[in-house]
Amino acid sequence: MDVLLSEEQIQTRVRELAKQISEDFSGKPLMAVCVLKGAYAFFSDLVRALSIPAQIEFVRVASYQGTQSGAFTVLHDIPVSLEGFHVLLIDDILDSGKTMKKLLKHMGAKNPLSLSLCTLLEKPGQLEAPVTLEYCGFQIPNEFVVGYGLDCDQQHRTLPYIARYQAD
Ligand code: IMP
Ligand code: MG
Repeated sequence: MDVLLSEEQIQTRVRELAKQISEDFSGKPLMAVCVLKGAYAFFSDLVRALSIPAQIEFVRVASYQGTQSGAFTVLHDIPVSLEGFHVLLIDDILDSGKTMKKLLKHMGAKNPLSLSLCTLLEKPGQLEAPVTLEYCGFQIPNEFVVGYGLDCDQQHRTLPYIARYQAD
């Protein structure tokens, strides 16, 4: 497959993001929330590169069928209260923003001290729902990509790099 972002490019950017996040949340109770499954690789590398303490939780939502945006469902919710925490939601990619808008509303209802969003990728110009992205790894062209957590019908999540999706 055609590599868009190499393993080295990703890891370098992850360390930069972790440094920025560590500075911004220094001295604050931080809850890092991984949006499964797509963010699993990014989340795992990012939180391990933080220089500040953080708690971790996982939420799982369903939004896509193949390459088409579908209905939003919470498959696994966070089993703890978010009161008293600054919450950083970590996802793989911001595309139309429809999924994220609903997820942010869902998380905001749990009354965190603050709620911020970090995604590895963003497709600029694709936003259909207003979503503020505080931390972004890379802006990419409007193409369907796979690898480093991202899938097409559950395939290719384990690649250590990001590639343009090509049906084989
Ligand atoms: P949105 O609601 O359109 O923003 O969709 C966001 C979700 O769709 C992401 O969390 C991904 O799971 C999935 N998604 C969007 N674009 C891609 C892509 O290029 N490759 C793989 N998954 C994608
Ligand atoms: Mg997906």
